[in-house]
Amino acid sequence: MPKFNDIDLKKWKEYEDIELSSLWIIENRKKNTYHSNQYHGNFVPQIPEQLIKRFTKKGELVIDFFVGGGTSIYEAYELKRRAIGVDINNDMFGDILNKINNDEKYKLIQADSTEPSTIKKIKKEMDFNEKAQLLIFHPPYHNIIKFTDMNTDLSNLKSIEEFLVEFEKVIVNSFELLENKRYAALIMGDIYQDSVWHPLGFQTMNLFIKNGYTLKSIIVKNIDETKGKRGQRSIWRYRALSSDYYLFGHEYIFIFKK
Ligand SMILES: C[S@@+](CC[C@H](N)C(=O)[O-])C[C@H]1O[C@@H](n2cnc3c(N)ncnc32)[C@H](O)[C@@H]1O
Repeated sequence: MPKFNDIDLKKWKEYEDIELSSLWIIENRKKNTYHSNQYHGNFVPQIPEQLIKRFTKKGELVIDFFVGGGTSIYEAYELKRRAIGVDINNDMFGDILNKINNDEKYKLIQADSTEPSTIKKIKKEMDFNEKAQLLIFHPPYHNIIKFTDMNTDLSNLKSIEEFLVEFEKVIVNSFELLENKRYAALIMGDIYQDSVWHPLGFQTMNLFIKNGYTLKSIIVKNIDETKGKRGQRSIWRYRALSSDYYLFGHEYIFIFKK
């Protein structure tokens, strides 16, 4: 049995639910009692579900530095892992904790993930000398969705360069929280601005490699079309057809090992 999950290799044929390809086509958002679609910019529950099943064991600790509407908290709860979520915006925190019956194994911290003081706050919620077994990073894709009016919100930074400088702080500061030989996952998309495709996915991926992580996988995932986007499909198709670019149909999930 691998040391970093609960998969029983003697029963390896039974794990058809575990994604093993680097191409994830997820047609429909998984539905359950916890997830609501309320939080703009949330990821599909299947992303943290797959990551948690593949890279942690029951009872282990997951930390999500951009927890948003709490998708990874709900998945950790369902899969009986512990979890800590950080977000600069605590609008959804009450909802999240209520839905998981205010279970004390799940903590939410309203803080700026770029700040070293946030790491101290997280450590206070961990046992003495404890390390996490999985770190999840799903930051804003620069300014594609504006999350709050706070100027330390990564979606409010003026340039891509500034975004990369601030996001790197999160990678560097959080490194010590992860147990050696365990995993971190980055969910990121590229952006198209001023008539240029900016490979934000690969730029942020490189920051992890630069700061001590080993790249283990690059997963390409389809972007799910929300109802709103579906309505605008024709206009986007028209715009692309009348110009020279392709419409985003994918985002990335990068897997790193410490
Ligand atoms: C793409 S969303 C994450 C969504 C989340 N995965 C979910 O499923 O709901 C990015 C989140 O980053 C948060 N954020 C932006 N800047 C931040 C910062 N400096 N520190 C912590 N959180 C930040 C935003 O408030 C937003 O909730």
